[in-house]
Amino acid sequence: MSEQRPRIVVTGRIPEPGLDLLRTVGDVWAWDHDDPIPTSVRDEHLAHADAVVTLLTDRVDDAFLEAAPQVRVVANVAVGYNNIDVSACTSRGVIVTNTPGVLTDATADLAMTLMLMVTRRLGEGERLIRSGAPWKWGMFMMLGSGIQGRQLGIIGMGGIGQALARRAKAFGMTIAYHNRSSVGADLEGELGATRMSLDEILETSHVVSLNCPYTDDTHHLINAAALSKMRADAVLVNTARGPIIDEAALVDALRSGEIAAAALDVFEQEPIVHPGLHDLDNVVLVPHLGSATIETRTAMATLAASNVVAVLSGQPPVTPVG
Ligand code: GLV
Repeated sequence: MSEQRPRIVVTGRIPEPGLDLLRTVGDVWAWDHDDPIPTSVRDEHLAHADAVVTLLTDRVDDAFLEAAPQVRVVANVAVGYNNIDVSACTSRGVIVTNTPGVLTDATADLAMTLMLMVTRRLGEGERLIRSGAPWKWGMFMMLGSGIQGRQLGIIGMGGIGQALARRAKAFGMTIAYHNRSSVGADLEGELGATRMSLDEILETSHVVSLNCPYTDDTHHLINAAALSKMRADAVLVNTARGPIIDEAALVDALRSGEIAAAALDVFEQEPIVHPGLHDLDNVVLVPHLGSATIETRTAMATLAASNVVAVLSGQPPVTPVG
């Protein structure tokens, strides 16, 4: 009798090359809809799963793991894994993996794009044209501010922060960063980057970009107190995770002119956007598009699948977390 192939559950739609790779080591069942998988359907399939590929919208907690008694690996198709209770996985002997590296450039590109959109008021310009309202060129029409010679303060100087620093340097910005550890003298020299305390970053930067993971330590890192330390002409950019910002405090700071503007790719109660943000002209809002290129999402799916293949073949995962 032939041995049963491992069963692999994929909780949402991922690019086909990822599924093809998974099929080389097991029988794959994938939820093939954009709507989230209903818990009852998920649990029915988790009951026999040896491996599961998850999306950042899945919550992998005790209830999830109890439904998946034989699962050996949870492969998240995201670099962030705040959706996964890693210690609950580890205590059950379940390996957790993520997809670092492959989305660095796409996410840094988006952070740079948001920075330019918000400083050059491109969202406002687009909304004006689309509204059908009459307009004509004017010397003082919709003036933004240049970024050359301005300081970009990067909070979280991992791969994405560094990739953003390279881009911003090419645009003529000076780079400051806040990180638990130094990136080293060589990289600081190459980027012309200065390491600062969080307060110094907030007090001196024209643009503050969030590029850190979301953890207990970074929950509401940017709260009312932090916002009050920022310059009145400062811009806040978030391509990391929504709950790093206290959105209610941000709305107050934007309304009162405590800071100049914000550009957000991620939201505290995603996909709900704090209602106060919709009405503000000095805000750019995009729907969590950091890694949203065909190439990047394909690479993420393939890397997640490689992690499953490795674990099911008795090898160490390619990109473990925890
Ligand atoms: C996207 O937000 C990711 O964490 O990969």
